[in-house]
Amino acid sequence: MAKNPIRHLYVHIPFCAKLCPYCSFHVETAMRNKSQRFLDALLIEIERQAGAFKIEPETIYFGGGTPSALSLSQLEFLLPRLRERFDPGRLVEFTFEINPATVSAEKARLLRALGVNRISMGVQSWDDSVLKTLGRAHTAAQSQRTFDTLREAGFDNINIDLMFAIPGQSHEQWMRTLEKTGALQPEHVSAYCLTYEEDTEFFRKLQTREFAQDENRDADFYEITMDALGAAGYVHYEVSNYAKPGRESLHNFAYWDGRDYLGIGPSAFSTVGAQRWQNVPDSRDYADRIFAGDSTASFTEQLSDATKLGETLAFGLRTNRGVPVSAITPWREQMREFRELGLLENSNGRLVLTRKGKLMADAVAEAFV
Ligand SMILES: C[S@@+](CC[C@H](N)C(=O)[O-])C[C@H]1O[C@@H](n2cnc3c(N)ncnc32)[C@H](O)[C@@H]1O
Ligand code: SF4
Repeated sequence: MAKNPIRHLYVHIPFCAKLCPYCSFHVETAMRNKSQRFLDALLIEIERQAGAFKIEPETIYFGGGTPSALSLSQLEFLLPRLRERFDPGRLVEFTFEINPATVSAEKARLLRALGVNRISMGVQSWDDSVLKTLGRAHTAAQSQRTFDTLREAGFDNINIDLMFAIPGQSHEQWMRTLEKTGALQPEHVSAYCLTYEEDTEFFRKLQTREFAQDENRDADFYEITMDALGAAGYVHYEVSNYAKPGRESLHNFAYWDGRDYLGIGPSAFSTVGAQRWQNVPDSRDYADRIFAGDSTASFTEQLSDATKLGETLAFGLRTNRGVPVSAITPWREQMREFRELGLLENSNGRLVLTRKGKLMADAVAEAFV
């Protein structure tokens, strides 16, 4: 059994009503797999892990896919049984990712009653033409109704996911989406620059030049984001994440701080000490392995101390906490160059990204890995 208790738990629910043309997360649209057998498999996996590790989570994160695609009766079955399998006494943040098309008032109330206290909502845009380009299954009006429904159900910690630099999206459209978001005052906003992931329809359209990428334009989108969300009272605490003071995601910080976490469900990653593994990215194969008593891991890796340190520094640099200057000794020369380029600055003994550095965060972080 691992020495330290596991404080962070991720559960992957891989089902989506349809596949968005830009998405490369592990998702399945065949809802027949969304069965009792799959839920039983999740519970067996957590039970197995509770035999191997002491699980006392401070944060739980249900991600996907679309966890809110689970029906009322599936939620009523799964969540209480999940909590029975570990000690929930220290739990402070329990996040559920939702798609605005899949949450009724009844489901919102049920999630709240079952202990979920943070919602992450995939709004992406408040503009219907942009939502159409993204192939989303909901309109802006539906997102607004769902946001109101969640507030009425008692959720006082809501994240809104947004995306920018979408084909055809103008800076003005993005500005209006940011203004609308600021007016709603969710506690947290994640604003992602669209990435063209391999094996997606968007990637193919980029290759055939139906879509085009322009780094300077992307940088303008990013600057608009920093200015608008800053003016709306959000702290820019990580390259893509903004929060009201004190509402930063504790679960995300656990990843960025290099803490141990367990991932349950198909395709989920876990990192405990020097061990990292990933479950098979297929819900049927995953359940078959569980019922056969086999390992669910399709990939395992032993992390060296240097790799772990490099990862923690790379993630740390992306946050507004930065990293201690004393920790970067092996990369001192490279960091000096970044400082001379105006990408990094020293703030009370810690290295942090400058405004210009945030625009090139990936390039800076890459130096460590
Ligand atoms: C795993 S998704 C889960 C949320 C939910 N399934 C939804 O889409 O509403 C988390 C977020 O990642 C972002 N995302 C997904 N694919 C992306 C891509 N190719 N580029 C940038 N952001 C992306 C979206 O903002 C999405 O809300
Ligand atoms: S709903 Fe979310 S997870 Fe599902 S395909 Fe779309 S972006 Fe990906």
